[in-house]
Amino acid sequence: MTALDLNSPVAVVGTGTMGQGIAQVALVAGHPVRLYDAAPGRAGEAAAGIVSRLDRLVEKGRLPAADRDAARGRLETAESLSGLAGCGLVVEAVLERLDVKQQLFRDLEEVVGEDCLLATNTSSLSVTAVGGALRLPGRFVGLHFFNPAPLMPLVEVVSGAATDPASAGRALETVRAWGRTPVSCADQPGFVVNRIARPFYAEAFEVYETGAADPATVDAVLRGSGGFRMGAFELTDLIGQDVNEAVTRSVWESFFQDVRFRPSLAQRRLVESGRLGRKTGRGWYSYEEGAERPEPRTAAAEEAPGHVTLLGDLGPAADVVGLIREAGIDVRVEDEGFAPEEKGRLVLPGGGTLVLADGETVGEYGPDLVSFDLALDYRAATRIALAAAPVTSPDTLAEAVGLFQALGKKVSVVGDVPGMIVARTVARIIDLAFDAVARGVAGEEDVDTAMRLGVNYPLGPFEWSRRLGDDWAYGVLDAVHEREPSGRCAPSLALLRHAFTAAK
Ligand SMILES: NC(=O)c1ccc[n+]([C@@H]2O[C@H](COP(=O)([O-])OP(=O)(O)OC[C@H]3O[C@@H](n4cnc5c(N)ncnc54)[C@H](O)[C@@H]3O)[C@@H](O)[C@H]2O)c1
Repeated sequence: MTALDLNSPVAVVGTGTMGQGIAQVALVAGHPVRLYDAAPGRAGEAAAGIVSRLDRLVEKGRLPAADRDAARGRLETAESLSGLAGCGLVVEAVLERLDVKQQLFRDLEEVVGEDCLLATNTSSLSVTAVGGALRLPGRFVGLHFFNPAPLMPLVEVVSGAATDPASAGRALETVRAWGRTPVSCADQPGFVVNRIARPFYAEAFEVYETGAADPATVDAVLRGSGGFRMGAFELTDLIGQDVNEAVTRSVWESFFQDVRFRPSLAQRRLVESGRLGRKTGRGWYSYEEGAERPEPRTAAAEEAPGHVTLLGDLGPAADVVGLIREAGIDVRVEDEGFAPEEKGRLVLPGGGTLVLADGETVGEYGPDLVSFDLALDYRAATRIALAAAPVTSPDTLAEAVGLFQALGKKVSVVGDVPGMIVARTVARIIDLAFDAVARGVAGEEDVDTAMRLGVNYPLGPFEWSRRLGDDWAYGVLDAVHEREPSGRCAPSLALLRHAFTAAK
């Protein structure tokens, strides 16, 4: 399949935030670009905005002045839809309303030729529904750009039920020729990124709602242990609580209120009270003048234990053992009387036990236990969360804190929530990824690419799953689900199949 010819004009309808960004991308790639907006004067303003952004790129040395001049010469505005005749591709970025978009495409079909590709940038509507009113729906695709389009490399190329594979292929190659990274996906709620990313926010909010940890601590653990660039609370303050909640609600509603996508009560309260994040000066955190970001809960210094005893295999936390040795702490290995099916653990000098979070609660293991959270990379992690049960002895907790502090980590002691913070978040992201692939949303590689580029995850969910062990996420969610039986964290059939097939 070949990309759209560079001489073929690209039209952008709706020249707000997204339309301007998309137009800039097509323009810089070399196409003639026509802008149309229903609001009088808006297309002209958008053209001026695009040119001034190109000027800034020239000033920063990122675009040769000659290219900016040539691009300016290729940029036009149209007074009406009829000015879009002869375009090879029209990308729509108007108001997010089905009736408005359907009417627009009906009108566009009267104007453009039969070989013109038509695309919607919708985030939350069904591509099949938006194109439903078309005479020739085979040439209709979703081109889901991310904001800001000139900086975000990912574009989801969405095939609706009626999309002709040749049109999807052409759209994909065109986006690739524009220097973007396209992923193909099917028309299901949230496409790839907005669907699979939901637990990143939901699990953080859930941990907070259970009272196990405050936002600053959850954020610090997601960053310092999980390897995420930002925590869920600070990120949603940046995105806007209203915008983030709207995506969650849209995915949840589109799945007929599937409990796995249930919105957060705490986030609802923020939205209702107008605490929308940075843009209103308050969200989870305050951005008012002089406001200080609350500190994450961090344990005071404790003495490092002189030795630990390793029983079995710590699985995804196996690297911790090497780090303990490097810290000069003696690791005694004892396998006698330890059955292979038992969980790997570290026994502290006082007799207490340390285990990796696996979806159970600390209290049920035994009287004197501490669990520690999953880390993306224990060597690089700067912070580790620990959870103790009410019956855990203070000495055991102090030894566990001292042990991780001796490895150079800050320690946050959080409440005893199944799957802690990072483990449950990562397990749920992996689960939704397996479920989405099994339901034909996208291929594994595309899902990994989409999550790395669309939301900056340190690893794609499939890469992460391979690293953690094929049955790890299933084990965690199965255990969390048993303890929180609402179904919110129930592992999917796809994950169960994977866990059992891979284990054989
Ligand atoms: N903002 C984002 O982060 C983002 C990301 C991905 C996709 N999207 C999607 O992109 C689309 C546009 O979002 P936005 O944030 O750029 O909106 P926006 O409000 O900034 O811009 C919308 C523009 O469309 C114009 N418009 C409205 N109805 C029109 C019509 N019938 N014909 C022509 N122009 C019309 C408006 O005058 C306005 O200039 C939506 O479908 C949205 O879901 C938004």
